[in-house]
Amino acid sequence: MRTAATRAFSTSTANRTKVAVLGAAGGIGQPLSLLLKQSPLITHLSLYDIVNTPGVAADLSHINTSSKASKHIGIYVTGHLPKDGGLEEALKDAGVVVIPAGVPRKPGMTRDDLFNTNAGIVRDLATACAKTCPEAKILIIANPVNSTVPIVSEVFKQHNVYDPKRIFGVTTLDVVRASRFVSEVAGGRPEEIKITVVGGHSGATIVPLFSQTQGIKSLSKEQLDELTHRVQYGGDEVVKAKDGLGSATLSMAFAGARFTESVLRAAAGEKGVVEPTFVRSSLFEKEGVEYFSSNVELSPEGVGKIHPLGNLTPYEEELVSVAVSQLKGNITKGVQFVSESQ
Ligand code: NAD
Ligand code: LMR
Repeated sequence: MRTAATRAFSTSTANRTKVAVLGAAGGIGQPLSLLLKQSPLITHLSLYDIVNTPGVAADLSHINTSSKASKHIGIYVTGHLPKDGGLEEALKDAGVVVIPAGVPRKPGMTRDDLFNTNAGIVRDLATACAKTCPEAKILIIANPVNSTVPIVSEVFKQHNVYDPKRIFGVTTLDVVRASRFVSEVAGGRPEEIKITVVGGHSGATIVPLFSQTQGIKSLSKEQLDELTHRVQYGGDEVVKAKDGLGSATLSMAFAGARFTESVLRAAAGEKGVVEPTFVRSSLFEKEGVEYFSSNVELSPEGVGKIHPLGNLTPYEEELVSVAVSQLKGNITKGVQFVSESQ
């Protein structure tokens, strides 16, 4: 089912980019869609969820923003529900699919505790993507990211449409948090401080490389311990404060919109767009870890150059080795889930 919330849309418009958000009526999905509605690089925003997308689409469609490619009509917004092939319609011709669908944590849970519910949701959505928009770039927000990225990859392999350049785990919130938290300790404008965060997206797999940022005042061992822990467990702060009502949604929407915009900018030919993201990577392949987050230069095809980690302090080397050992289990769990669901 589709609700067309804008009257006219020229499918012949050059450079049109359709972005689909799956889970668009949720805590992340709604503010993320609001931010994406302001992107000049999107011509069609397609919102899919199991509930409420017609309302969200109608609401967003009243916002008077335009995209570069279709100034005369504004961004086309459609809402889709499962009935009548709604998922396929939402995905048809999408260039980018963002997936925040799935349940969030409650206090006392780890991200891995979400696996039992979210693995099946992500597998089924990935199957629809593999069939309907196999060439789209897939941006995975649903947790546990360390396992959901391998799940999507395995589904694409099963359908013979796998291209590792097009599958991304969104770890931007860790990067956003790292710059915010370090600015509170060392001063400076957070939006101008760039911290590389590598590894994965849960607890000890999240590794901020503070030593690589020039211009922040040197941190004592105690400050480094506190900051590293805060970036690794920043998600828990929000889960605790929301007290049973979910996890980070607004900061995640901000981070997800930033990452989506980066992917779109690179797709439009902009050079030098670099973001840490959890992708198929050879950096720790010898250790048996096939996916890893590091700085990635984005390209029109998706993943361009995967940057090596660069110089690490002994402190950071230790953190990376803990991350690598934990990631192995998270990745295997995702891969096995898909092979066992066949
Ligand atoms: P939410 O419960 O508010 O929203 C999830 C939405 O997904 C709901 O609207 C629900 O109807 C929808 N949904 C459920 N099953 C679906 C399906 N089969 N198809 C389409 N939609 C479906 O949760 P939220 O707070 O938006 O969080 C969503 C996910 O994002 C969680 O797994 C959470 O852990 C994760 N998350 C990841 C990061 C990150 O940094 N990568 C940050 C925050 C949250
Ligand atoms: C986060 O980092 O905020 C998200 O992964 C949500 C969570 O469960 O903490």
